[in-house]
Amino acid sequence: MRLTSLTLIAAFATPTIATADPIKDAIDARQGYYQVVKHNAGVLFGMAQGKIDYDAARATSAANDLQALANLGNDGMWPMGSSNADRPGETRALPVIWGTYPAVLEKSEAFKSASNALASSAGNGLDALRAGVQTLGASCKGCHDTYRAKSF
Ligand code: HEC
Repeated sequence: MRLTSLTLIAAFATPTIATADPIKDAIDARQGYYQVVKHNAGVLFGMAQGKIDYDAARATSAANDLQALANLGNDGMWPMGSSNADRPGETRALPVIWGTYPAVLEKSEAFKSASNALASSAGNGLDALRAGVQTLGASCKGCHDTYRAKSF
């Protein structure tokens, strides 16, 4: 027990690890964020496609988490100097995100409103879920088409 606590204290007492490369930290954070987005959206897409059995409680739980994620501020995850032109091989974020800012926020808004709608409709049966998931999927694609490179 004592050893475990000491190890934990040591881990939290080394902030230099987290700030050695703040740009890389931000890239890691947003990629991790989108993995959590995918984790929750994947449940909803899976149910809509019949790959996962529809379950109202599970659908609502995933939709609620997605709503929380969509409504995070996330401003700190997009520092200048973190596009794929600045950091090739590390990120797929295209320079146009910064070049035409704030245009990208329209895509975030579409993701937010699709997630907000699903949070109230995902538990109302498969047809309601499917309708909401279509709008959600379009919001992901709508942003990726313009702002995310196809490959690293
Ligand atoms: C406002 C724009 C935007 C929206 C909306 C959006 N994404 Fe993305 N997504 C991006 C960008 C930009 C990246 C590239 C991030 C990077 O590589 O730094 C990305 C990356 C990802 C990744 C890869 C993460 C990794 O590990 O490299 C996944 C998975 C993903 N998005 C899923 C989704 C899903 C699912 C949705 C909708 C439910 C969604 N995204 C909505 C912009 C968006």
